[in-house]
Amino acid sequence: MVVVFSVLSMKKDRALREGQRTWLRNAGLGAGFVLAALLLWSSLGAEDDVAEVLAHHGEVLAGRFIEVPCSEDYDSHRRFEGCTPRRCGRGITDSVITREEAERIRSIAEKGLSLGGSDGGASILDLHSGALSVGKHFVNLYRYFGDRIHNVFSEEDFRLYRHVRRKVQLTIADAFGISSSLLHLTKPTFFSRMNSTEARTAHDEYWHAHVDKVTYGSFDYTSLLYLSDYLEDFGGGRFVFMDEGANRTVEPRAGRVSFFTSGSENLHRVEKVHWGTRYAVTIAFTCNPDHGIADPAFT
Ligand SMILES: *[C@@H]1O[C@H](CO)[C@@H](O)[C@H](O)[C@H]1NC(C)=O
Ligand SMILES: *[C@@H]1O[C@H](CO)[C@@H](O)[C@H](O)[C@H]1NC(C)=O
Repeated sequence: MVVVFSVLSMKKDRALREGQRTWLRNAGLGAGFVLAALLLWSSLGAEDDVAEVLAHHGEVLAGRFIEVPCSEDYDSHRRFEGCTPRRCGRGITDSVITREEAERIRSIAEKGLSLGGSDGGASILDLHSGALSVGKHFVNLYRYFGDRIHNVFSEEDFRLYRHVRRKVQLTIADAFGISSSLLHLTKPTFFSRMNSTEARTAHDEYWHAHVDKVTYGSFDYTSLLYLSDYLEDFGGGRFVFMDEGANRTVEPRAGRVSFFTSGSENLHRVEKVHWGTRYAVTIAFTCNPDHGIADPAFT
């Protein structure tokens, strides 16, 4: 627009006629350069098809809740009145878990995961079942380490884990207006550690879009507690809600809790981690008491 206007106004000025050819050529070069820059920018940003950021890593959210219409996924499962989602949505809060608690929880993850680790870029540690990624497989850490596990984790670690789980449960119940006692922790509930190393098995491929209720029938409410900071500890690795009209992200931040109803109203994926290490805990809840699991404890 600016270029066209300048050209027209110059045309009026006969004295500048001489210089016009050069000017136009320069303008043409300039326009070409701008076009090239735009093309480069769009190709560099091609992976970045994010339309909206629901939670920036730098902001501290007291609580944000976005309601979305429920999918029909819940209809193919037994309904538990007062618990099975009738109202669906997603919430994010930075005020439930402190940064200090997140740091202590992260050190539990670090200790546990240091005993194993996937050959690919994604490792998990499930304190409930004992599952730990090792190479291309999983081992049961309680069976594998036996009594020596007491040298790894302390009672205090498990107490903190329970405390955090309870606070997340209360937050979800409160946001959806249901009774917390109707929610049951379910499996898998686990720590994840992701880095940029290439996937070796399907277990390492965390970035595919999925619906939790389809992947794990028991899930009704999914939550994530982030244990590291986007762009400080790692790059990539943002959580993306894939809505029909837009991709909406949650940027991880240590202590940030993100939760949502588990049906296809909340189709999502995690971007590949490009650098650094990303820690999080997935904590899942079901309304079906038959699918409930207990908190981890030394046996
Ligand atoms: C990623 O983690 C694995 C262990 O799970 C480790 O072997 C690998 O070196 C790490 N990669 C990077 C880039 O840090
Ligand atoms: C959302 O991102 C995916 C790739 O991750 C892309 O294929 C899709 O077109 C994006 N959706 C919108 C509405 O931009």
